[in-house]
Amino acid sequence: GSIAVIMPAAGSGQRFGSQSNKLFANLDGKPLWQHAVDRFESRSDVGLLVLAVSADDESIFREQISELNCNLPIRLVRGGATRSESVQAGLDEVLRFTNEPGDRSKPPTIDRVAIHDAARPLVRQSDLDRVFAEATSSGAALLVAPVSGTLKRDTGSGSQTVDRRNMYVALTPQVFAIDVIRQAYARDRGRMATDDAQLVERTGHPVQLVTGSADNLKITYPEDLRIAEAILNECRS
Ligand code: C5P
Repeated sequence: GSIAVIMPAAGSGQRFGSQSNKLFANLDGKPLWQHAVDRFESRSDVGLLVLAVSADDESIFREQISELNCNLPIRLVRGGATRSESVQAGLDEVLRFTNEPGDRSKPPTIDRVAIHDAARPLVRQSDLDRVFAEATSSGAALLVAPVSGTLKRDTGSGSQTVDRRNMYVALTPQVFAIDVIRQAYARDRGRMATDDAQLVERTGHPVQLVTGSADNLKITYPEDLRIAEAILNECRS
């Protein structure tokens, strides 16, 4: 596998409102974050997974990883105060990994980095196929979903309707050639961005949009878990 997956998992999940990290919440018999890992584990094009976790959660993640029957090398790093900082820590680990001397267990050279929210348990294999392929040909790609509702801008004096043609919601994974994402983070170290594609856009490298399934939701509120469960059940039937 030539793709390294970075999973930011160090959020506080305040909007979810539980005592512990929402990523430990049970979804269909296992912790939420494991669903996200499972989606990548079975793929032969993925060779490394780096989870960025908070200091508070590290021991739980370590324990749950040790119970996993996972063929993929998984590494834990300490995340940061913002998602960007957590991704940066993951990226540093990917670069360390690629510089380590090789042995038989080490996968071939990593050429792409996929960044995927640990809180997105439902990404489809066919969407991964397409966004990974697009990143190979263009160097930068992200999954998006069309905006379904009517968009309004508050002008201060009232509402204005935004033309929603050409408007998309950013999903993950966001996938980059390793040099593209390395340069984007080196340039903007510490600067805020709402997602990784934004950092790459700032370098002038175009980022391609790949329309994916809107099922690929991010668990934010407790009710999102029920929707995710319904989608999983539907896939089984
Ligand atoms: O809070 P939200 O779910 O939008 O965050 C998206 C992802 O980024 C989550 O998987 C969360 O754990 C992660 N994150 C992080 N470090 C932060 C904030 C969020 O790894 N400081």
